[in-house]
Amino acid sequence: MSRSQSCCFLGIIITIYFFVFLHPLPNTFASPTRSVCLGDQRDALLELQKEFHVPTTSWNKSTDCCSWEGVTCDDILGKVISLELRYRKANTSLKSSSGLFKLQHLRELDLSFCNLKGKIPSSIGNLSHLTHLHLTYNLLVGEVPSSIGKLNQLEYMDLSYNDLKGNIPISFANFTKLSRLNLYENQFTGGLDIVLPNLTSSTSIQFYCNYFQSFSTDLSGLHNLFSLDGSNNSFVGPFPSSLFMISSLQFLDLSHNQFEGPIDFGNTSSSSMLKQLDLSHNNFGGSVPKSISKLGNLFSLDLSHNNFGGPVPRSISKLLKLDYINLSSNKLEGQVPHVSWRSPNSSEIFTEKCANFAHNSFSSFGESAKLGMLELLDISSNSLQGPIPQWICGIIFVLDLSNNHLSGSIPQCLSKSNNVILRNNSLSGSLPDLCIHDQQLQSLDVSHNNLVGKLPKSLIKCSDMRLLNVRGNKIKDTFPFWLGSLTYLTVLVLRSNAFCGPIYNASAYLGFPRLAIIDISNNNFVGSLPQDYFAKWPEMSLAWNTPESEKYLGDHFYRFHDDSITLVYKGVDMDFVKIFSGFKAIDFSGNQLSGNIPGSIGLLSDLRFLNLSGNAFTCNIPPSLANITKLETLDLSQNNLSGEIPQGLGKLTFLSYINFSHNHLQGLVPRSTQFGSQNCSSFMDNSGLYGLEYICGESNHVSVPTSSQQPDESLSEPEEPVLNWIAAAIAFGPGVFCGLVIGHIFTSYKHEWFIS
Ligand SMILES: *[C@@H]1O[C@H](CO)[C@@H](O)[C@H](O)[C@H]1NC(C)=O
Ligand SMILES: *[C@@H]1O[C@H](CO)[C@@H](O)[C@H](O)[C@H]1NC(C)=O
Ligand SMILES: *[C@@H]1O[C@H](CO)[C@@H](O)[C@H](O)[C@H]1NC(C)=O
Ligand SMILES: *[C@@H]1O[C@H](CO)[C@@H](O)[C@H](O)[C@H]1NC(C)=O
Ligand SMILES: *[C@@H]1O[C@H](CO)[C@@H](O)[C@H](O)[C@H]1NC(C)=O
Ligand SMILES: *[C@@H]1O[C@H](CO)[C@@H](O)[C@H](O)[C@H]1NC(C)=O
Ligand SMILES: *[C@@H]1O[C@H](CO)[C@@H](O)[C@H](O)[C@H]1NC(C)=O
Ligand SMILES: *[C@@H]1O[C@H](CO)[C@@H](O)[C@H](O)[C@H]1NC(C)=O
Ligand SMILES: *[C@@H]1O[C@H](CO)[C@@H](O)[C@H](O)[C@H]1NC(C)=O
Ligand SMILES: *[C@@H]1O[C@H](CO)[C@@H](O)[C@H](O)[C@H]1NC(C)=O
Ligand SMILES: *[C@@H]1O[C@H](CO)[C@@H](O)[C@H](O)[C@H]1NC(C)=O
Ligand SMILES: *[C@@H]1O[C@H](CO)[C@@H](O)[C@H](O)[C@H]1NC(C)=O
Repeated sequence: MSRSQSCCFLGIIITIYFFVFLHPLPNTFASPTRSVCLGDQRDALLELQKEFHVPTTSWNKSTDCCSWEGVTCDDILGKVISLELRYRKANTSLKSSSGLFKLQHLRELDLSFCNLKGKIPSSIGNLSHLTHLHLTYNLLVGEVPSSIGKLNQLEYMDLSYNDLKGNIPISFANFTKLSRLNLYENQFTGGLDIVLPNLTSSTSIQFYCNYFQSFSTDLSGLHNLFSLDGSNNSFVGPFPSSLFMISSLQFLDLSHNQFEGPIDFGNTSSSSMLKQLDLSHNNFGGSVPKSISKLGNLFSLDLSHNNFGGPVPRSISKLLKLDYINLSSNKLEGQVPHVSWRSPNSSEIFTEKCANFAHNSFSSFGESAKLGMLELLDISSNSLQGPIPQWICGIIFVLDLSNNHLSGSIPQCLSKSNNVILRNNSLSGSLPDLCIHDQQLQSLDVSHNNLVGKLPKSLIKCSDMRLLNVRGNKIKDTFPFWLGSLTYLTVLVLRSNAFCGPIYNASAYLGFPRLAIIDISNNNFVGSLPQDYFAKWPEMSLAWNTPESEKYLGDHFYRFHDDSITLVYKGVDMDFVKIFSGFKAIDFSGNQLSGNIPGSIGLLSDLRFLNLSGNAFTCNIPPSLANITKLETLDLSQNNLSGEIPQGLGKLTFLSYINFSHNHLQGLVPRSTQFGSQNCSSFMDNSGLYGLEYICGESNHVSVPTSSQQPDESLSEPEEPVLNWIAAAIAFGPGVFCGLVIGHIFTSYKHEWFIS
């Protein structure tokens, strides 16, 4: 995400909402009029032309300056009243003596995106008739001169996206007609206490992403305020309760500050229009007050990342319009809050309904809830105990109950949901017959539980399945060849169970047309693989950027919904980003596979990760490995491989981790930057490798220690897997789900906004 999206996303949403739904942008720059330009006005403009890059064809001395591009004159007096020089890359500073300040009748001035440098000159105060001032996206720096207070006719002022520093001049209190004030994305410090209460006409005040420290104690006089965004500043102190007395306020974002103490909505106006409240990432504490029910119009509530404790009051169920509630990362206890979910209203931005209660200490599910259209329910990392209640089935999109103490068996009806995450609980029994009645299931993560028995054959009815992770259970079964018929299965993790038998069966059609990540490590699989074994996995040989591959693998992570693309999983993890962009991996390590490594492995040209360590593979390393040009990790350690390391592997430029240790390899080690950057221990315990000086250093010479020798300390460091890819593969969660739906909408509106 870009800085503006991650840091200021809600603020911009507010602005956009304001723009698009309430105040269609007025066309402030009217078409040129027929009045004749006065000489002093023309001369001032020509002075300015020298400072700015203005197209000379239009700004021509011998024509009426009122007809020049960007210039609008007063019909009667012939004075310039509006000047729009947006996107003229002036690359200069505005001098005090600039011709601009002679245009004293200006009402509208737009110098946004002009690359203006230096300070705002104090002669700005000369333009005392200004009603609209646009200076966004310049390199303007330093403090704002206090003479700006002379512009007491201002209705709109935009100083956003600059490098302005220091305090806001007290003279801002003169802006009694100001309706919209944008100060966001600057480096302002100090307080807003003296200024804000006097901006009595303001409807929208946006000052997010600055370093403001103090906040006004009484803002209840701002009767017209609609939206206020002070997120990502350095505010400290108590909850600014006076803001809640403003009944016109609809959007309030004070997230990412250091406010502290309890919150209280006791004085909240009974006619509060507040729709969106974001107090996340502060140090608010105490309990969530009963008085929260006064915010009856809320559709979005974010109190995440604070220190709220105790149970959530039942009165929260009176917030009948809620679409989004995020209470994650607090110290909340007791029952999972009971929220009433109304049916969706397509005329609003927030149509996805999400509830995030993760990272708290909730201990019970409470009574059955009417889940209706709930898209996401995240109660992961709490203290939930006992069985999973049946009523929880039917969360439409993501149900995350991972990292709790849930026990009992897995309810069959969970396949009503698309994505079910039950990782790290104490669930027992065998996997139920999923997808008998409902085929929605796309991903199922039941890793790190106590499941036994076999994988139910009914899983092949889950025709939409993309990801199956049963890692870390006690499942005792043979290799599920039959899963090969699942057309979309992309990630299959059977790691650390009691699977046994061969992974090749001459009579079983392998299938797995879309498999991109397979981890069957640490089981008891045996047997050898035919030479063409890997030839049957089409997905792994497809380049990620081919449309076909994108269509299917991409579909695993995206969902198409109401024309908006939704990222399902936590896209923030670096390793995960790799997977998301087409990462392909095979981990067969820690089994008893034997025979040759099939030469057909070279066909998997898109493979990034290959771990065959800890098996009983014999004979030569197939030279075709050199054809896997994208390979990043290659671990063939702890086998019985013999012969030479194929020289072609030296050409693999992405290879960052190589391990050939504990085999019977001989001959010259390939010379390449990649080999040169390996740890010496990656070659230890082989019978006759040489040419290792450039890896192990001169002192070690050719004497790569064998296990019988005492390796020196630098050689015996534990083998760290370079890429913890599988952790990333399964560490998916609903994290950014809601954010991105909205983010997408935001992007399109942002576009509209900037070009309008
Ligand atoms: C807050 O703003 C600063 C700079 O304006 C930025 O570097 C930082 O990432 C932002 N923090 C958050 C949490 O958005
Ligand atoms: C200002 O700088 C931009 C890029 O730095 C350049 O493209 C443009 O031509 C410059 N304008 C003038 C008037 O020098
Ligand atoms: C300015 O306008 C005059 C008269 O229309 C024309 O002759 C002249 O070429 C123009 N100059 C420029 C620089 O376009
Ligand atoms: C600003 O206004 C004052 C008087 O009103 C005038 O003397 C001065 O020249 C003006 N500054 C500029 C740059 O035009
Ligand atoms: C505020 O506006 C008044 C005119 O209404 C003006 O006289 C005064 O100088 C302004 N104050 C500042 C600090 O600019
Ligand atoms: C703010 O407004 C009040 C009341 O109108 C006034 O007394 C006060 O001087 C103003 N503050 C500033 C800094 O102008
Ligand atoms: C509510 O308003 C009263 C009277 O203005 C005030 O004394 C009290 O401190 C306010 N309570 C809160 C929580 O702001
Ligand atoms: C949907 O939202 C619109 C605009 O906010 C509102 O006028 C309408 O009453 C809402 N409809 C329902 C069914 O909530
Ligand atoms: C598993 O869940 C428990 C209980 O919530 C938690 O303490 C632990 O850190 C989790 N383990 C992992 C590996 O996430
Ligand atoms: C690598 O691929 C090329 C072209 O597909 C093929 O001709 C060659 O035999 C392969 N090399 C090995 C060592 O398999
Ligand atoms: C390969 O698998 C073995 C055994 O499971 C493990 O110890 C090793 O760390 C893995 N190698 C990499 C690079 O992940
Ligand atoms: C809830 O808040 C947390 C922390 O602020 C954030 O990481 C997460 O993405 C939010 N969850 C949802 C579903 O938006």
